[in-house]
Amino acid sequence: MKKRKGLVALLLITFVLILSKCQPEPKIVEHYANTTPYDFFVPKGFLPPNIPADNLTTVEGVRLGRFLFYEKKLSGDQTQSCGSCHMQDVSFGDMKAKSVGIAGLETKRHAMVLFNLAWEEFFFWDGRAKSLEEQALEPVTNPFEMNADWPTVLARLEATPMYPPLFKAAFGDKNITKERVAKAIAQFERTIVSYNSKYDSIKRMPPSPLPFEDPLIERGYKMFMSPEGDCFHCHGEGGYLLKAMGEEASFRNNGLKPDWIDEKGRFEVTGAPWDIGKMKVPSVRNTAFFFGDGSSVALSAPFMHDGSIPTLDSLIEFYNMGGFDTENSNTDVDMEAKGKGRDWEQDQKDALKAFLGSLTDYKFLTDTAYRDPFED
Ligand code: HEC
Ligand code: HEC
Repeated sequence: MKKRKGLVALLLITFVLILSKCQPEPKIVEHYANTTPYDFFVPKGFLPPNIPADNLTTVEGVRLGRFLFYEKKLSGDQTQSCGSCHMQDVSFGDMKAKSVGIAGLETKRHAMVLFNLAWEEFFFWDGRAKSLEEQALEPVTNPFEMNADWPTVLARLEATPMYPPLFKAAFGDKNITKERVAKAIAQFERTIVSYNSKYDSIKRMPPSPLPFEDPLIERGYKMFMSPEGDCFHCHGEGGYLLKAMGEEASFRNNGLKPDWIDEKGRFEVTGAPWDIGKMKVPSVRNTAFFFGDGSSVALSAPFMHDGSIPTLDSLIEFYNMGGFDTENSNTDVDMEAKGKGRDWEQDQKDALKAFLGSLTDYKFLTDTAYRDPFED
């Protein structure tokens, strides 16, 4: 009898164990009392956004995050905000090859553009942050960027009359913590969505795809999406983001440098030799501002992690060259020419450029919802 009871108990325990293994770990959800869910807009054709269960987007959180994104009190000497290096009118990047932080020191890499981040899984050129919440904690204390310390920053926010009520509205009480600062900034960043380029309007109109009207753009699109231009392997059209998705595809080596000595890219996170020189594939949206006469100025330029490519024309020449090939290079097989050159004619270059131009979203560049609220 005793033995049977023991057996039943054992079976029960095993059953409970199996059950608990099957069920996903319950996520700790910080409940924000009396907040208004933010009506997250997912453009047609985009994948579902990546919103963490413990930081749902709310109107109050986004409002606070927008102030914090432009808040200079987050930097050591109170002269720089996130918005100093991420400026809306240039795709939320800056025009410098390497950004300059408050101590006058150059950052190691070129500032990244910020839009459609709700669909990203890895952040920074080497992908070292796995969420926007994690990412937002770094610049504040980074000596090359905002060079501050959290206790000072939090004390400053507490002493600023507008903040305690904003935190209460967003998180239910007046506590100001660095995690909440990061969460609010992340909420604001997720709302920065770019989906109003000429390309988008064509893709979103039924029955899609429509012709591009402009034959040069159409030709550039075909080049981009075929072996002729061979951009699509890395800047895939998946989810309309025009960048690769998933860990494998997200980091590629496009043969930008003949050697990778001081900068090793993704390798700095994984330590895997095949990751040397791999960088996060950026979106090709919003790279340049096109004027009516067809001339353009680059927006996210100088391009690439090191800002080494100054203009759209030089970018096209770089891909025409096929990237550098060296003895021990990891240069991607999809950079087919691998230093051997592709010999595009001028009309092919013009077509690629025109297609890139169709990816610029002028509404996003001027949308008042993203601008500095201190200037409202
Ligand atoms: C001094 C200039 C500077 C400041 C200030 C700055 N950033 Fe950045 N930001 C950069 C640079 C440079 C990178 C790329 C760094 C790298 O890859 O190592 C970057 C990368 C990012 C990324 C990654 C984007 C992606 O697609 O992976 C996000 C998000 C971001 N910054 C948000 C912020 C936020 C939020 C703040 C304020 C808390 C901030 N930045 C302050 C220069 C700056
Ligand atoms: C093997 C993958 C691969 C292929 C093929 C490829 N790219 Fe890239 N592209 C990348 C990577 C990786 C980066 C970032 C590299 C870096 O910063 O070191 C990049 C950067 C860019 C950028 C700069 C964006 C910015 O904001 O700095 C543009 C624009 C671009 N590529 C356009 C193109 C075009 C046009 C083609 C086709 C002619 C193409 N790419 C083919 C992987 C690729």
